[in-house]
Amino acid sequence: MKPPRINQHARAIVQAKGMAAPARPNVANQRATARPPSTVTMKAPSYTVQSPLPLGGHSHQIRATIQGTPQVAGSVEISAGAGGKAFISNLTVDQQHRRRGVAAKLIDAAVNTARRQGYKAASLEARPSDNGISPQALVALYRRQGFRSVGKSQRGSPMMERKL
Ligand SMILES: CC(C)(COP(=O)(O)OP(=O)(O)OC[C@H]1O[C@@H](n2cnc3c(N)ncnc32)[C@H](O)[C@@H]1OP(=O)(O)O)[C@@H](O)C(=O)NCCC(=O)NCCS
Repeated sequence: MKPPRINQHARAIVQAKGMAAPARPNVANQRATARPPSTVTMKAPSYTVQSPLPLGGHSHQIRATIQGTPQVAGSVEISAGAGGKAFISNLTVDQQHRRRGVAAKLIDAAVNTARRQGYKAASLEARPSDNGISPQALVALYRRQGFRSVGKSQRGSPMMERKL
């Protein structure tokens, strides 16, 4: 079969269209004028450790608040423990404020408070209360704060102590 006849004018149009390079975006130009993505970067807040609050008996709670606000990010308690030692308990930091050093600040404050209250040693039970931290990581955290393992609690968690 013969190919269909195309007249001279039509051929010129087809060739011209075929040759026309597709319009290419001017990438260099786009980069120069592109806006940054519209994400807002929030600065991590700083935290203030508050003075111990009496809880009744010989117990006190220390709170860490978001600097410049009354919003509590975490807390820890100190009470009179066995053997005349201060007992540090209920260390907790809200999920959204974790891994920013709040627990380390609270433990430090609890140790200093216990020392000021006249205790010569502090003890605690290293027992995670949720799955945000492993038992091993929790023990390592307390070790870095000067505590050492001295045995197991009745629940089988490490008991730890340090001198003040
Ligand atoms: C345990 C807990 C208080 C830690 O609070 P936190 O404010 O996140 O701890 P910090 O930011 O001060 O952590 C200090 C260091 O401890 C270690 N650490 C803390 N959380 C950790 C995790 N989930 N996994 C591994 N290491 C962890 C890290 O070395 C960390 O330093 P880095 O962040 O520079 O690596 C918090 O996970 C929590 O509230 N858990 C539930 C309550 C609980 O189990 N309390 C313990 C009662 S004994």
